[in-house]
Amino acid sequence: MLELRALSAGYGRAQILFELSLEAKPGEVVVLLGRNGAGKSTTLKTVMGLLRTRAGEVRFDGQRIDRLPPYRIARLGLGYVPEDRRIFTDLSVMENLEVGRQEPRAGAPHWTPERLFALFPNLGRMPERLGGRMSGGEQQMLTIARTLMGNPRAVLLDEPSEGLAPVIVDQMAQTILALKKEGLCVLLCEQNLRFAHLVGDRAYVVEKGHVRYAGTMAELEKNDAVREQYLSV
Ligand SMILES: Nc1ncnc2c1ncn2[C@@H]1O[C@H](COP(=O)(O)OP(=O)(O)OP(=O)(O)O)[C@@H](O)[C@H]1O
Ligand SMILES: [Mg+2]
Repeated sequence: MLELRALSAGYGRAQILFELSLEAKPGEVVVLLGRNGAGKSTTLKTVMGLLRTRAGEVRFDGQRIDRLPPYRIARLGLGYVPEDRRIFTDLSVMENLEVGRQEPRAGAPHWTPERLFALFPNLGRMPERLGGRMSGGEQQMLTIARTLMGNPRAVLLDEPSEGLAPVIVDQMAQTILALKKEGLCVLLCEQNLRFAHLVGDRAYVVEKGHVRYAGTMAELEKNDAVREQYLSV
């Protein structure tokens, strides 16, 4: 469903991604792992068209999207949750959700605030709460919920577990598994290997913009060499 072929991208004169290839299918959770500065966020930004592809291709459902502007990519049903939680602090939970609303989309789950409140019970208990008065974890949940209001077929999540208390991390993992069950394609960046193991089917390990390892999460768990070389701090 989502396919990156030999993708190269960067900022100004700095090349950050080098012929990076990966794929993710519907109902699959794929984790992009790597240390600080490896190029994880840059990969997601390039897929979303926020950064120009210099070489290679990005395909979504077979269609090339690497020359499309971000809003058109989003309208094809690709949801994106960036690393900074861009909720509207002066709007309530319900109003934040309304901002994300798009028409129902064929082949994608149709989300309503009611359905999202079942998935995120915390949010359901505070529909009138202003975004600015929520905890970091609650804001993170709201950002994801707002993205789901666009009824995406695939979602890109940039470090969804970052800064969350351990109990909230587990809730976040359950949420991602629920999305997988709905048939969504999920591509997420992570530094937290434990979280990656909770949710991931397959992993790509990135270092300096190169894919150094690709395999199942279970295989990675057994591969001490890769973990030590590219992931341990
Ligand atoms: N806007 C930018 N302009 C120039 N260089 C950037 C910009 N954003 C990121 N970089 C550089 O690109 C490289 C990859 O950054 P990226 O944000 O993709 O890393 P990451 O894997 O997401 O790391 P982290 O785990 O810290 O979020 C880094 O060397 C970073 O300094
Ligand atoms: Mg990042």
